[in-house]
Parts: sequence; structure tokens; C-alpha cells
Amino acid sequence: MNPRHDPRLKAFASDNYAGVHPEILQAIVSANGGHQTAYGDDVYTEAMQEVFQRHFGEQARAWPVFNGTAANVVSLRSMTAQWEAVICAESAHINTDEGGAPEVAGGIKLLTVPTPDGKLTPELIDRQAWGFGDVHRAQPKVVSISNTTELGTVYTAEEIAAICAHAHDLGLLVHLDGSRLTNAAAALDVPMRALTTDAGVDALSFGGTKIGLMYGEAVVVLNPDAATGVEYLRKTFMQLSSKMRFVSAQFEALLAGDLWLRNARRANEMARRLAEAVGRVPGVRVARTVEANAVFAVLPEDVAARLRKRFRFYDWTDGEVRWMCAFDTTEEDVDAFAAALAEEMADTRR
Ligand SMILES: Cc1ncc(COP(=O)(O)O)c(C=O)c1O
Repeated sequence: MNPRHDPRLKAFASDNYAGVHPEILQAIVSANGGHQTAYGDDVYTEAMQEVFQRHFGEQARAWPVFNGTAANVVSLRSMTAQWEAVICAESAHINTDEGGAPEVAGGIKLLTVPTPDGKLTPELIDRQAWGFGDVHRAQPKVVSISNTTELGTVYTAEEIAAICAHAHDLGLLVHLDGSRLTNAAAALDVPMRALTTDAGVDALSFGGTKIGLMYGEAVVVLNPDAATGVEYLRKTFMQLSSKMRFVSAQFEALLAGDLWLRNARRANEMARRLAEAVGRVPGVRVARTVEANAVFAVLPEDVAARLRKRFRFYDWTDGEVRWMCAFDTTEEDVDAFAAALAEEMADTRR
């Protein structure tokens, strides 16, 4: 069957626009055939646990779910009682882009803090870490950070360790939204556990879809004392996959070798190339340092409107646009995009 779309066309809107990496697709095919016990009691899910433990330590336990919003809601719910709250950056995905799911579906109060670059610090956490014992205030219980952040920035292992030490001193737990943890680790050239387990993170939403899976993310509990009931909450939140072997097989393929790293490095490299190329176009300003696979830029609105007809991308906050590279973005894609941008800019100046 021929595809209904032109598979040569790439967008710079989101790493979610990319298809499935061929090695992941092959893993799904290999897991097909015959019968396996449903709901996670299968050999693929068992093998997946082992690869997660290799990355995050023997105490780690991974629970596949369908998407990133669910990974966040299930992990945060498992870390909080009904009267407890989560401190996060105002720009955090859980606050800006999940349709209120943490509050509406999870019943979790978010306590937000404005940040210049999407990153919390111990000082910024203190703006919301107060009112302990006050029966009128939702009790702060978890600090949630994203790595990479929604503004494309990357927390270093030292920054995360400082956040965890501060949070733990206050009796708070730390959750990391690792929708793009692979990109962060690749950018810093460190193992993923340096940014999570070794830094003191208690639980993690691990992203698979943006880095080559067809679908699937995982709640990864790193500190077994920090989260309770994940096994039950998955069903409560409609996240217990019956044919779980197909999610688990994808994670095994991503994490058993270096596929995660190859994919993340490519996406990051392409963003660097893109930033250099568009930075050379007069009238275009790269608005933020490119630390992983996102480029934020400012350009005239009419140029953005015309360019968007050729390549999809999104407007971001503060008059910026976001251009995102994926594991399958090529040098040719980047160069074609930069050339199209230069053409549209020249048309505007004429
Ligand atoms: C930082 C972050 N967290 C979580 C998600 C997961 O969202 P979804 O529910 O669309 O898989 C995304 C997706 O864009 C994200 O960027």
C-alpha cells in the first residue's frame, strides 16, 4: 500500500511528527505472533525491566504507559496524597500543555514558579515551599522538573543534585519529566543515571515516543519509598495496556544498545546545525542558546507565516517560534529549511 503522505517531507514542529525508527518497528514485528500473557506478565516486559535497571540502577522499576501526560499524572499521583501539591516551573509541560490533566484527571494541585529559562533552582523552589503544617494550604510534597525543559535548556547533573538535596532537606520528593531525557544525556555526554538516580531523583517519566517509538512512555520509580500504588494507578488512569509486550519490546530495542543515544545525538546535532544556519540569515535572531534539539528564534511574522506553509512549526511564548529536530532530521532537511527561510526573508526585504 502506498503511503497517503509524502514521506520525504519533514517538519520542524515537534519531534512527535517523526515516524517510528526502523529498529523499533522491527522489534514490534519480532514480538508479534503467537500468544503472550496480557497486561505485562510477558517476556518482553520482563526484558524491558532489565534494560531499565541497567540504565537507572537495580532498584529501578519501570511501568509502561501510553503517553507522556499519563506518565506525569501517574507518577505525580503515586507520590502525593490528596492534600499534597507539586511545585513546578510555570512553563512546565504539566502546567502549560496537558489540558489540565494533572489537576482534572489527577486531582493534583500545581504550585508554579516563573523562571527565566524553564529551570528551577533551590531559591526558586523556596518561593512555593512554604506553609508546611498550615491546614489552609495544599501541602508542598513534590518538586517536578523537566530535562530537557520546555525552553530547550538542559539541567546538569550538579544542578539536579542541588535541587534534590534542597528538596529532600525540606521533606519534598523530586520527579523528573524525562520526555526528552535522552536528548539531555546526549547533550551533556553523561549516562542517564547521572541526571536521575545518582542525582537523587525519586521518580521519572521516561520518554520513548519523541526518540523513535511508535508510542509508549514509562513511569520509572527510582526510589521505591517515594511512590506507592503505580501498579494500580495505571489501571485507574486507563494506562494499563493489555498487549503490553508491544510497548515493552520497543523500550527494549531503544535501551538495550545505543539506539537511544544515536537518535538523541542526531536530533541535537541537527538543532545545532539549524541554529548556525538560520543565525546567518539577516533579520533572524536565535533567541536562546541551543542546548539540545530545540531552536527558538524571532523573525518577522509575515516571514513565519509564509515559511510555515512550506515547513510546519509552532509559535512559542514571547514572540518566539520553536523549531524542533528529531532523530530522523537530516543535514539536507536542515539546509533546505534554512534556504527556504533565507528566501522568505529576502522577499520581505525586497
Ligand atoms: C516536556 C514534555 N513532557 C511531556 C510530554 C508528553 O506529552 P504527550 O502526552 O503528548 O505524550 C511532552 C510532549 O510534548 C513534553 O514536551
